[in-house]
Amino acid sequence: MNGMDAPQADGPCRSLVSVEVHLHPDEARHALHAEALTGLCHRPKELSPKWLYDERGSQLFDDITRLPEYYPTRREREILLEHAHEVARLSGADTLIELGSGTSEKTRLLLGALRRTGRLRRFIPFDVSEHFLRRAAATLARDYPGLRVHAVVGDFERHLAYLPREGRRLVAFLGGTIGNFKPAARARFFQEVAHSLAPGDGLLLGTDLIKDRSRLFAAYNDSAGVTAEFNRNVLHVLNRELGANFDVNAFAHLAPFDEEQGWIEMRLISQRPQWVHLPALRRSAHFDAGEVLRTEVSCKFRPQQVESELFAAGLHLAAGWTDRARDFALSLAFKP
Ligand code: AVJ
Repeated sequence: MNGMDAPQADGPCRSLVSVEVHLHPDEARHALHAEALTGLCHRPKELSPKWLYDERGSQLFDDITRLPEYYPTRREREILLEHAHEVARLSGADTLIELGSGTSEKTRLLLGALRRTGRLRRFIPFDVSEHFLRRAAATLARDYPGLRVHAVVGDFERHLAYLPREGRRLVAFLGGTIGNFKPAARARFFQEVAHSLAPGDGLLLGTDLIKDRSRLFAAYNDSAGVTAEFNRNVLHVLNRELGANFDVNAFAHLAPFDEEQGWIEMRLISQRPQWVHLPALRRSAHFDAGEVLRTEVSCKFRPQQVESELFAAGLHLAAGWTDRARDFALSLAFKP
């Protein structure tokens, strides 16, 4: 079931791109069906944030990263601009593995710093979208001559065990995406990462920090309504993938900060009582007026908490950095 391409020779210089597939589209569709059934037909209603990122959702998230209120992307870039060379030096890595998107400017800051140490050999972008990975892999291989790009298509909650084992590896998990895991899943994820690393390998983790509540709120309830569009887009995804008939405009966006849980919670709130038909599931789901469908949590952290959670998984913090405003943190931890 795993397809592996041999490195291909195409174009004037030898291209060093290969792709390994552990997650097929039918499998993803099957997962969506199973999840939609439990997530929409019970209370409280909840969906996994991964369904937010179809092509339009990914574009909308990209728009979010440029909003004046959405600080995480800019802050993390600021930290990397200043400290990527230390990350590279401390890691001594010859292999960069990136969990999640692999085309961003942040990837390039890391690749550039690692290349300047003279050790960089390999880049392994790991993502759920084969289409996206192939495009990203080709672009990066072109821009970094001599770099081997081995893309792995998988779900990082299930397929970390398939990561290539050779070399001194640095796993980067940026953007604050770790915030999408609830505490138990996060602990499991850290364990899995630690398990897949060899002694001396590192994890570079980006986490959003707890801060002034009005700035947290504004970042997820922007005045231009882009986050609202991004959130509601998941209903278009369900209409397309499940043949559902969500009236997208009958749901309002709200993303409050939950003080007890320490997370931002993205909600779609039904504006009237309504039935939604879900033909692919042979079911209908009822929404009361005011009923909430939770589409994402985004956990916010204290730096000390990140260190102790990593430690609990057997990863030792070597360095941590924040931006000047202390909005966001990057943590570098190693397997001893
Ligand atoms: C991509 C998960 C890091 O939680 O800030 C942005 C997603 N959701 N606005 C985040 C998101 C609403 C983002 N992550």
